[in-house]
Amino acid sequence: MENNRGSFGSKLGFLLAAVGSAVGLGNIWGFPYKMGSNGGFAFLLVYLVLAIFVGLAVMVGELFIGRKTGLSPLAAYKKLSKKFTWLGWLALISPFVVLGFYFVLGGIVTRYAVSYLTAIFGWNTWGVPQVTDFFGHFICAGSGMLVWTAIFVAINGIVVAAGVAEGIEKFCKIGMPALFVMLVAVIIYVAVQPGAFDGYKFMFGWNIEPLKEDFLGVLSSAAGQMFFSLSLGMGIMITYGSYLDKKENIQQNSVIIVVCDTLVAILAGMIVMPACFAFLDGNVRGGPGLLFASMQEVFFKMGGIGNLMGFLFYGLVFIAAISSSMSLLEVLISATVDMRTEKKKAPGRKKAVLVWCIIILIISLPVALDGLGSGTAAGCVLDPPAVVFGSANVAGWNDCWLDFYDLISEGILMPLGSAIMAFAIGWIWKLDMVVKECELEGNKFWGKGFFNICFKVITPIGMLFVIYGQITGFFGL
Ligand code: PHE
Repeated sequence: MENNRGSFGSKLGFLLAAVGSAVGLGNIWGFPYKMGSNGGFAFLLVYLVLAIFVGLAVMVGELFIGRKTGLSPLAAYKKLSKKFTWLGWLALISPFVVLGFYFVLGGIVTRYAVSYLTAIFGWNTWGVPQVTDFFGHFICAGSGMLVWTAIFVAINGIVVAAGVAEGIEKFCKIGMPALFVMLVAVIIYVAVQPGAFDGYKFMFGWNIEPLKEDFLGVLSSAAGQMFFSLSLGMGIMITYGSYLDKKENIQQNSVIIVVCDTLVAILAGMIVMPACFAFLDGNVRGGPGLLFASMQEVFFKMGGIGNLMGFLFYGLVFIAAISSSMSLLEVLISATVDMRTEKKKAPGRKKAVLVWCIIILIISLPVALDGLGSGTAAGCVLDPPAVVFGSANVAGWNDCWLDFYDLISEGILMPLGSAIMAFAIGWIWKLDMVVKECELEGNKFWGKGFFNICFKVITPIGMLFVIYGQITGFFGL
């Protein structure tokens, strides 16, 4: 592999970095809150079906494209077929939009982790008289949001600038196992609280009523969540695949990534759901604020041990968030480096990191400044998109900038990009091309029939429904 692109140092390193990318805020922030507002078990069921029939195939497809070409998305699609170059651009727009809100959320998480850490030592850094009021104050005070977003961006920049093996891989090798241990510690604590059982019932008790009420709503929410959580449809796995050795078994790696990611999402749910039942009378509908406002109330109600649990919890969210945002940044960086190499220029990795960090910081301004939709009426700096765009139908358009960015990326671009990629693999390039690449060094490809149906039919058609559902849902149509 070309030295200037760098590569992963070991198989485990690759896996941990890929799992690190997949396991992120999507699992710990997105999954529980979407599950909370989409009927618990029904959401979980649809999610699992989608992960098996769509997620796995798209994962194999992306790793295949990356490894076959050894290039980042733009160049990779171009190499596979000139007609699909635009798909590469599509794959690059998504990380850009996602980073626009991911960095802001990462900043909030960092702030929480730090304050819980100081609180363990008796130093109160919340800066509000009542801890449980913190979230509302913090998201509206523009300066705090900006500073913490910038801190989070800076940490990302430093690690990514160090390179794939030296930065990302090293971080994930320590971070991922640590995350797992912290996760289990908090799960055990929550499990022994009175009332926790109802949370498990909400998650695992058979109840498909919500599907009868709003199937398309649950489907599109679960699908967007799945793409986002698995880091699919936006070039990440193509990029990581391009660093993958030819000896590696693509299918096996894909299964491991999908299983680990799904497991962590369920484990995160097993913290948040029982905690909401044990401490908040079963109020699981906290929306995007669930991870922050609701969980902070939970830790507050725990009493003395709450600070330690809070630190462990937000510490693990921090690790999850940063190993994902690094991968997002890496897509942009490797694309830039590839482009410069093509023009016979020096790779310029560090400079690329700096420039992209600044650009994304600017893109994230609206997300950091609208108080997650509270708007100027509540004293925040900026109004939500509906008001800014002067939409007549404000009621159906009242989501915040974060939701708006989220709609563009996980609601539209990711399902669209994945559907077209699956279509191209199924009907134009044909599965045989994937099989050949997967079997290069003696690995056997299994489930040809299954993958064929996934690529040809299930993913392209299913995802069109999803995009329709996302758009109608967001605009309240
Ligand atoms: N998968 C990550 C998460 O669950 C987010 C992410 C999306 C990272 C897309 C990279 C690419 O939070």
